[in-house]
Amino acid sequence: MPAEQQNPDGSLAHLLTLQDMPLATAERLFSLADFYAAGNRARRLRGKLLVNIFFESSTRTRTAFEAASKQLGADVVNLDQIRMAGATKSESLEDTVRTVSAMGAAGIVLRHGEDGAAHKAAAVAPAGVVIINGGDGCNSHPTQGLTDAYTMRQHFGKDLSKLSVAIVGDVLHSRVARSNLHILRLLGVDDIRLAGPEQLCPSALAQQLGATVNHNIDDALAGVDVVMMLRIQRERIQALNRNVDMSEAEYLAQYGLTEARAAALKPSAVVMHPGPINRGVEIADSVADSKRSLILQQVHYGMAIRMAVLTDLIADE
Ligand code: CP
Repeated sequence: MPAEQQNPDGSLAHLLTLQDMPLATAERLFSLADFYAAGNRARRLRGKLLVNIFFESSTRTRTAFEAASKQLGADVVNLDQIRMAGATKSESLEDTVRTVSAMGAAGIVLRHGEDGAAHKAAAVAPAGVVIINGGDGCNSHPTQGLTDAYTMRQHFGKDLSKLSVAIVGDVLHSRVARSNLHILRLLGVDDIRLAGPEQLCPSALAQQLGATVNHNIDDALAGVDVVMMLRIQRERIQALNRNVDMSEAEYLAQYGLTEARAAALKPSAVVMHPGPINRGVEIADSVADSKRSLILQQVHYGMAIRMAVLTDLIADE
């Protein structure tokens, strides 16, 4: 875990990554999430100002953080840097963080296209201003990783260690895949299989991440308890001058979770996807909406996790 993420007393100063997070910290966040998931509400952020700074689009993360902040009694400002003057006037990320901090923000939720952007923000945030990573490039999406693991715990029980999990699709560009790997390993899951075409799920990357890789999706799905499908991130592929040399129909046939593949899964297996979904590309419509699908459960529990994270990092006591 990066030094700037943790205070000397072990509490979180920022939430930048799940890599090397102590198990006790994750359990503390899950325990707070249990409180909120049970329907309890506590206006523990009354009088605090939260600012969502999003340099990339978001439906789930931004809305969940805004709603969670409001449910906790905070005042919330959404700074949409995709459209607002800050980005077009070339103000740096660091100056944006300094500016918002000077206005009295207690916390900043940051989404940015660059790997390491949240770490850069934390490096300039004044003492007492919390940076929460809402997704940085292909690097990390800690609240999604926590949400996904929490959703699995709600479905399977707290001990996930015996589960087999397949993470399938565009692993190369997925910050969610990396954060899921970090939290699932922390929770003792050994059997994590990465799968997809070599272009999007390179063997070298899997080796670097310490996970197994399978380019045959049918083999990868055999006997798994959880299938986590990932969308092809065409915007990132284009920005990085990369290429996927197959049509959407070919991708679905070779690597997508079709109805036939879903039917061949273990009867108790569940299907997950962090969203947004490319229906008919990485997952068939009927599978996304099937009884196996926990996709809307992920969205639901994402609220409790965001409330837990905001409480843990920002509430006074
Ligand atoms: N899963 C996720 O990060 O979705 P959004 O891009 O809608 O926030």
